[in-house]
Amino acid sequence: MDSTILPWIGLISSLSLLYKLANFAWVYWLKPSQLHRYLHTTNGKPAWAMVTGASDGIGKQFARELAKDGFNVVIHGRNKTKVARVQEELSAEFPTRSFRALLADCSSISCQNCRNKLGENDNVDFDAIVNALSDINLTVLINNAGGVPVPIYQYLHETAPERLITTTNLNAIFPLLLQSKLLPQLIQNSPSLIMNIGSMADMGLPMLTAYAGSKRLLNCTSECISRELRMLGKDVEVLMVRVGEVCGTVYSQVKPSLFEPDSNTMARAALDRVGCGMSVVVGYWAHAVHIAALPWLPQFVVDRSFMDAVGSRTKNQWKKE
Ligand SMILES: NC(=O)c1ccc[n+]([C@@H]2O[C@H](COP(=O)([O-])OP(=O)(O)OC[C@H]3O[C@@H](n4cnc5c(N)ncnc54)[C@H](OP(=O)(O)O)[C@@H]3O)[C@@H](O)[C@H]2O)c1
Ligand SMILES: *[C@@H]1O[C@H](CO)[C@@H](O)[C@H](O)[C@H]1NC(C)=O
Ligand SMILES: *[C@@H]1O[C@H](CO)[C@@H](O)[C@H](O)[C@H]1NC(C)=O
Ligand SMILES: *[C@@H]1O[C@H](CO)[C@@H](O)[C@H](O)[C@H]1NC(C)=O
Repeated sequence: MDSTILPWIGLISSLSLLYKLANFAWVYWLKPSQLHRYLHTTNGKPAWAMVTGASDGIGKQFARELAKDGFNVVIHGRNKTKVARVQEELSAEFPTRSFRALLADCSSISCQNCRNKLGENDNVDFDAIVNALSDINLTVLINNAGGVPVPIYQYLHETAPERLITTTNLNAIFPLLLQSKLLPQLIQNSPSLIMNIGSMADMGLPMLTAYAGSKRLLNCTSECISRELRMLGKDVEVLMVRVGEVCGTVYSQVKPSLFEPDSNTMARAALDRVGCGMSVVVGYWAHAVHIAALPWLPQFVVDRSFMDAVGSRTKNQWKKE
């Protein structure tokens, strides 16, 4: 090779790396969160945020951080006792904010004529949800409810069809329908924000097929909706925040560490990414570092690392090739 080309290749690679590092520092440390844009009063009424799955885990911490930032919060969950407990706790901690409860089981979505085991139509009533929010100025919607029932890891052919359907309803269909129903209100109350909580399992983790696939649907729909709103000239930010492992939830009980932050750190990190200019972002910086090398690795190394990561959590079921 012509030896005069080498320094140029070196220079271009160094500049590209420098740009990537500078952009990382900008997104994770330098760029201030734009959440305050959505804390506007309209007609003298204070702004409200709604967090789905706020009765536990990261969702509860979203509700807490939003209240701390000045929002009134709608606490959604499916268990009345748990939702009431969180409402009580947050009302005591933030006496000047308002909280209200909203109950719905996100996995009960089927069709007009579908019946549950008791022969009833127990579909989520989205119109009732819209009505329950019609008297408040909702400016933030966080689609956080999600997850997989235990045992978390299962081969597809060993998973009951009901579980595949409820997992997809919870993680993909419910947030999709909720956005379609609440967008008119969010557009009217704009500037407003929709945050969808994803998972790094969307890279294609095995034994999590319905969950990982649902989160990828959420990833793609966030980009579509974001572009639709820009086509319409509406000031509604749609941000998909991808989440890696978080401690103290059903997935793990270990103490927080650099790569496994606690729920509060995770919720804060996600809110700090608001206004970062992307429609999909890894919320917490160390989670982003964790997967930073993947695009440079050969596919077989990536495949191996995903299989090993899941395999090490399911030792009894895992047979190494
Ligand atoms: N924790 C992690 O390591 C991790 C990693 C990647 C992504 N995430 C994502 O982060 C989000 C929050 O996860 P988390 O770990 O905080 O979960 P969590 O501790 O299990 O809490 C989930 C919340 O969603 C609610 N929920 C679950 N199923 C529901 C249903 N069918 N209908 C209505 N509400 C339902 C739960 O209510 P109940 O209290 O009634 O169960 C709870 O409030 C999820 O979208 C998850 O996929 C988490
Ligand atoms: C709801 O939550 C309470 C308190 O954690 C628990 O005791 C109860 O079993 C839960 N109900 C259901 C139906 O899961
Ligand atoms: C919320 O704010 C918008 C924009 O100012 C207004 O048109 C709407 O009527 C308000 N909604 C409620 C319930 O106050
Ligand atoms: C999610 O969307 C982002 C932004 O377009 C993309 O870079 C990423 O590859 C997507 N993730 C998956 C797993 O599809």
